[in-house]
Formats: sequence, C-alpha cells, structure tokens
Amino acid sequence: MLDLGCGPARHAAHLVRDHGALVDAVDASAGQYERARARHGSLPGLNLVLADAVEHLRAAEPYDVIYSVNAVPYIDPHRLLPALAAALEPGGRLCFTVLHTNSHGDGPSGDVVARPEILRLAGGDVTVRMWVLAPDLWTALLAEHGLRVERVDVLDAPQPGNHASYRLFQATRPLRVSSRPRTGKPPVAHAALGVGAVLHGPADCSSTGTGTGRGSCPAGRWSPARRCRRRSCASSARRRGSRRGRRTSGCSGRSSTTRAVSSG
Ligand SMILES: C[S@@+](CC[C@H](N)C(=O)[O-])C[C@H]1O[C@@H](n2cnc3c(N)ncnc32)[C@H](O)[C@@H]1O
Repeated sequence: MLDLGCGPARHAAHLVRDHGALVDAVDASAGQYERARARHGSLPGLNLVLADAVEHLRAAEPYDVIYSVNAVPYIDPHRLLPALAAALEPGGRLCFTVLHTNSHGDGPSGDVVARPEILRLAGGDVTVRMWVLAPDLWTALLAEHGLRVERVDVLDAPQPGNHASYRLFQATRPLRVSSRPRTGKPPVAHAALGVGAVLHGPADCSSTGTGTGRGSCPAGRWSPARRCRRRSCASSARRRGSRRGRRTSGCSGRSSTTRAVSSG
C-alpha cells in the first residue's frame, strides 16, 4: 500500500509494525523525510520515499490500497487524480481525509480552486494553498477518473469552539468500469448515440436490434419475423417520413441489407 504525503510516517509505521502491511511512504518534504528516516528508517516492510507524490504515482507499480492523511488537499486534483486512479489496481481501495471547514468556520468551495489556509505550527503560522472542496465535488472529480466513492465520514475537531471539520473518503476503483462514470453531469454528445441494425432477408424482416431478442427500431418495439412483416416497416417509414424510411418500407424480401440506426 501507499501512504501519500506521509510526513514523519507514523501512520505507515503503525500499519507495518502492528498489522504486517507493506507500505511505501512518500513525501515531498526533505525535512519530513529525514524525520521519518530517523524514527522508522530501519523498520522492515516500510519503504520511505522522498518524492513528489504525483511523480511517484506515475512511476510506481499499481497499489492495492492508497491512503492519505491530510495531504490530498495540498495537491491540485487535476494533477493528482489521474495519477492516483492509474496507480490503483482494479478493485483497489483509496482512503483519504480532506479539510472541509477550517477552524474559523469557513466551509468548502463549490469550485475546483485552491485558497490560502493558515497552518498553526510549532515554529509559527504558515500560509499554504489548499483545495478545500465540497464532498459532492470530490465525489464528481473521483468519478471522472473512474473512482467510486463508497462512503464519506465526518471528523469534527473534538475541542469546543474549534470549527475545524474533516471528511474521510473511502473509494474504490471498480473491477469493471461502467461505460459512463456516475456524475451529475449530462453525457458528452457522442455518448448519446446508439447503433442498431435492421436486416432484410429473402423471406422476411428480422432485426439484430440492440441484442435483446426484441429489437427496437424507430417505429417502436418490435420483434423479429412475423410481427414485423411489412406492417411495422411501413409504420416505421410513415413515422420517419424520410427517403431512407421509404426505402426500408419496401421490404421487398429480395435483397439482404444492413442499415445502421442512430438515435439520441
Ligand atoms: C498535513 S501534513 C500530513 C502528514 C502526515 N500524513 C500525517 O498525518 O502526519 C501534509 C504532508 O503532505 C506533504 N505533501 C504536500 N504536497 C505533497 C506532494 N506534492 N507530494 C508529496 N507530499 C506532499 C507535505 O510535505 C506534508 O508532509
């Protein structure tokens, strides 16, 4: 598995030591990498990597599990998510936390934009740019890259008066990718086209339809052979009123023709 943005690698070390996991732990900060190496560098099963997470994902063998504790919001999702999805085995799992509401109570954005956030560190405040996005937006972005969100948990700061709230996402890369990821967006134009075929044989009309056994054609639902004889072809022609339709209505039974029908 991969710990993305592992920092001092305490989560990775815990999974290796207490659960027998094999973990690659990657962080882009030389300081964090040195801290991790000093504390856990000799732990068998833990592989510490100093690298940009996206560069690492692009080069690595696919992982069964990728997780990240508060590091995903630091990386542009348009850069991160394609690499993340490609680096996950089909059937693999992705878990990560993101900032949802900061300690002042500022909630997430509905647009994919980074904003300044203040980190309170031991050495003083540091301003960083973070992608603090609404859960629906994360879900849609993940879906665009073939990742399906299974659940989202709320993690509120335990201290009274602290408005900080995080969201824990659990997602999978499905074994079989559906033709269109589930999003709220309409399908792209070419996805609205369907293709079928109408066959005219020597004895009768028959249809390959869309492979259901009861073909569908512009005239409506119809089944092969007897029910479709001339009548449905003629009604098909009447409804379309096109030259192509009139040709179909001829249905002379003399020649065998295959015609593609597009809809949508
Ligand atoms: C808030 S810290 C979390 C550290 C650790 N996951 C933890 O919970 O202790 C965020 C970490 O993400 C790392 N990070 C930010 N951008 C990164 C990138 N592009 N590639 C790798 N690591 C990154 C930072 O260096 C930092 O260690």
